[in-house]
Amino acid sequence: MAKNDTKKGNWSGRFNEPVTELVKRFTASIGFDHKLALYDIDGSLAHAEMLAAQKIITQKDLKAIQSGLKSIQKEILAGNFKWSTDLEDVHSNIEKRLIDKVGDAGKKLHTGRSRNDQVATDLKLWLRAVIDEIIQKIRLLQLSIVQLADKHQKTIMPGFTHLQVAQPVTFGHHLMAYYEMLQRDLTRFEDARKRMNHLPLGSAALAGTGYPIDRYRVAKKLKFADVCENSLDAVSDRDFAIEFTFAGSLLMTHLSRFSEELIIWSSAMIGFVEIADRFCTGSSIMPQKKNPDVPELVRGKTGRVTGHLMGLLMLMKAQPLAYNKDNQEDKEPLFDTANTLLDVLTIYADMLKGITVNEKNMKEAALKGYATATDLADYLVSKGIAFKDAHEIVAKVVNAAIKKKCNLSELKLDELKKFSKVISNDIYSHLTLEGSIKSKNHIGGTSFEQVKKSINKAKQRLK
Ligand code: ARG
Repeated sequence: MAKNDTKKGNWSGRFNEPVTELVKRFTASIGFDHKLALYDIDGSLAHAEMLAAQKIITQKDLKAIQSGLKSIQKEILAGNFKWSTDLEDVHSNIEKRLIDKVGDAGKKLHTGRSRNDQVATDLKLWLRAVIDEIIQKIRLLQLSIVQLADKHQKTIMPGFTHLQVAQPVTFGHHLMAYYEMLQRDLTRFEDARKRMNHLPLGSAALAGTGYPIDRYRVAKKLKFADVCENSLDAVSDRDFAIEFTFAGSLLMTHLSRFSEELIIWSSAMIGFVEIADRFCTGSSIMPQKKNPDVPELVRGKTGRVTGHLMGLLMLMKAQPLAYNKDNQEDKEPLFDTANTLLDVLTIYADMLKGITVNEKNMKEAALKGYATATDLADYLVSKGIAFKDAHEIVAKVVNAAIKKKCNLSELKLDELKKFSKVISNDIYSHLTLEGSIKSKNHIGGTSFEQVKKSINKAKQRLK
């Protein structure tokens, strides 16, 4: 590489040789970490205010730093800030601009601080805000689910195991299963937020600082519940990034399962639901096609988010204490995870509002699949037959119905009696889909009454 391809880093008084353009580009994070700019300024304002309160800098310096940072804030918000790769990252870019604006006072901001505790603090501030937004969006998605379930409290569909018709359930019950998954996701994000809400700032590069700082004052200002107790841990910990991405991966896994169902249900072969046109695309060659692109992409993006989780775990696995430059690699997966989750949650809540349900197809599928066979076995048990024997008897009844091409409730009483003489006329209330559903009347069961209760409970929670 030619000599004039190189330029000396502005931060370096120690180096005899400038880095090459490639090394500069390779080591810079400004291309992505400018996203942290406003949080970086919040952190700096809190730090400067503490330095002045502790008489480490003068009130005059503080005023200059504050006005400089405020005007930088305005430039960033207006989109007028010029980020420079020569200045490596968001922290150095802002600091340089501050010094340009306010002179010597700006050079004092970095007293008792390092970019190591600074970046950990910025990232936590940013992630905390993201988590708050994600929690709000999960609740909106839950609301969409509950509203759809409310409309379909009594819509009967087959419940599946092994994707084979198993027992009848209500569509409302099926949907509320996803409400439950999302409720666990929501509390996982809340937990992660609590655990990460400790302030790294004050740890400086790794060992702490000799200045008489007041870390609790900074924590309070930045709304951290506490301060990190060990400076080495504070600057090198990225557990919060991993936990967040794990909570995101599991959320995506749940939505991927939901997507898979929507894709299957909306295929012409099944025809349980139709997804509104605005979430689908057509084919350039097959005019009849309506493709469920949105659920397919949600399923696809689950791989992407889970990939980020693996990436972050691998990023951390061999790092000695304390800060290492490796940590700079935490940002892109984290930012991409946040963007993906926010988009997916928003689009999903909207998509569920555009679902049309084909109740007739759902019911027919439940009838076709002998979904009440277990109810017949339970009936026989109630008449004194051991469950194993009842199971055997019902298998034979199902075979007979298959041969006759009818469903179980269409078999005549004398036909049924051939399989077991304990069967009498009261059997028919058990063989219908409604009868089967009504009998599952305990908490967690699919009876109309229980589904209504769980929907009401969810509505209460979402208020
Ligand atoms: N850009 C860096 C990062 O993202 C900031 C911290 C740099 N610290 C250092 N000692 N090089 O992690």
